[in-house]
Amino acid sequence: MNYQNILVDTQDGVSTITINRPSKLNALNKETIQELHDAFKDLDGDSETLVIIITGSGEKAFVAGADISEFADYSVSQGEQLAAQGQALLFDFVAHLSTPVIAAVNGFALGGGLELAMSAHFRIASDNAKMGLPEVSLGVIPGYGGTQRLPQLVGKGRAMEMIMTAGMIDAETAAQYGLVNHVTSQDELIPLAEKLAGKIKRNSLVAINAAIAAINAGYEDGENGFDTEITEFGRCFGTADFKEGTQAFLEKRKPQFPGK
Ligand code: COA
Repeated sequence: MNYQNILVDTQDGVSTITINRPSKLNALNKETIQELHDAFKDLDGDSETLVIIITGSGEKAFVAGADISEFADYSVSQGEQLAAQGQALLFDFVAHLSTPVIAAVNGFALGGGLELAMSAHFRIASDNAKMGLPEVSLGVIPGYGGTQRLPQLVGKGRAMEMIMTAGMIDAETAAQYGLVNHVTSQDELIPLAEKLAGKIKRNSLVAINAAIAAINAGYEDGENGFDTEITEFGRCFGTADFKEGTQAFLEKRKPQFPGK
């Protein structure tokens, strides 16, 4: 597919999506959100893609937020629609994707940028990264899931402080808070994401899909994560991956997962 604002590259089972509007610090305009949706959907259905990495182009920003120039004159209903559409197309979509998604945060991840990173299944960051939800400094609140995912990741008190002060935290603090799992130099960021992707793709992706569904269920209203875990656990027993994984263990060899 041809995209204006993103780049997609697939190698050895790992697809990297790079948001590519560096002159606007990779801010998420509507077109970019739609392109990201299309790319994630496409890669999720692509048998060559086992893991997805999302990052930003340039050395300064992952994503500096939603594109402020697009919504500055919006009405109440347009604002609500902006948040609803964005959540459905991109943020919830990525959080529930069956293919594992790693965010490689290579610089500023602000507002919608941090919300996108938080929608990924986990995050790593370069040591120059700065993260925050500065929306209240613009007279608005996070609308792409930030009020929910930030407290889930860092705890309610820290999320309250970050959102109320509109401040930024550095990569080390983000690691201390549990917002990112690892911090490395900018040069090492993508190699580290690829190394982690390499470890993931050796495992059963069918089982990983089940784990994503069970973990997410614990954070969904009206769902019982333990019940989902029981169902998904049982479902694994009917997969070819389970037969291969257990057989390979008993035969003392490495499994070759068929991925179904
Ligand atoms: N939406 C639209 N454009 C944005 C943007 C955003 N969220 N963030 C940055 N840009 C644009 C700037 O307008 C500027 O464009 P221009 O060169 O055409 O004027 C360009 O990106 C570079 O940004 P600039 O502000 O000049 O860089 P800086 O190094 O001085 O500051 C930031 C970097 C990240 C601190 C600053 O850009 C910023 O505060 N951005 C907005 C962050 C935000 O509030 N995000 C939440 C949105 S809900």
